Amino acid sequence: MSKRHGSYGFDAPWAVAGLLFGAIVLLGLAGLSLSLDILAAGIAFLLGGLYTLASAISHLYTTRRGKFAVWAGQLERLRGDERLLDLGCGRGAVLLLAAQRLESGGATGVDLWRAKGRSGNHEQVTRANAEAEGVADRVELVTGDLRDLPFGDDAFDVVVSSQAVHDIPGADGRARAVREAHRVLRPGGLLLIADFRHTQDYEETLRELGVVDVRRRDAGWRFWYGGPWSATGIVEARKPAA
Ligand SMILES: C[S@@+](CC[C@H](N)C(=O)[O-])C[C@H]1O[C@@H](n2cnc3c(N)ncnc32)[C@H](O)[C@@H]1O
Repeated sequence: MSKRHGSYGFDAPWAVAGLLFGAIVLLGLAGLSLSLDILAAGIAFLLGGLYTLASAISHLYTTRRGKFAVWAGQLERLRGDERLLDLGCGRGAVLLLAAQRLESGGATGVDLWRAKGRSGNHEQVTRANAEAEGVADRVELVTGDLRDLPFGDDAFDVVVSSQAVHDIPGADGRARAVREAHRVLRPGGLLLIADFRHTQDYEETLRELGVVDVRRRDAGWRFWYGGPWSATGIVEARKPAA
């Protein structure tokens, strides 16, 4: 994976801050208990503190490196001439990785640029990142809701999404977003949705739409947000050819 030049912030910054704060408190209590010779409490706080610290490190690793490595692997299959859409592109972590591969294609990112769940989430930041990565000429940014995409049917060869669909409140809203992803994908096109929740629902929605070539897999430890209890799954589907 080539070096990144953009600025991509942190996923769920308050979750990381909470984990780091929890680790500091628990390790502080461990030190205090051990200094007062309260051995059992000291060991319990120490183990709890180390566990919480490990979770924070896992989260930080995923947000700064791991998810880029996983997506770089997923995007290796691009030929380079596709029209790709990134649903909930945020600051462009996946969008711009894809754009680097799309030498004769194009990458469109759609987002409502919400602050929740992603630090510094602004369209201007994503645009500046596209400049920094040297791909601004093949990137388009669109403000829109994933539940009602401002694109025509069959407009894209590839649709991707990373940690965005879960942000939509309610199962109905998320199913609408998956149906919209399917609508804007051309027959034979590829859909990849990475998310740490609800991936089984996404798969079921796609099957209801008649997609048979759909599978779900674990993205591995590099995409854990704190530990295996918060692992990312990837739904991969091919829209049936017309
Ligand atoms: C956790 S961020 C992930 C950003 C990016 N995909 C990444 O992996 O770095 C989730 C993104 O989804 C966007 N989002 C959430 N709900 C949305 C909706 N209904 N329509 C469009 N974008 C939405 C947020 O604004 C945010 O940028």
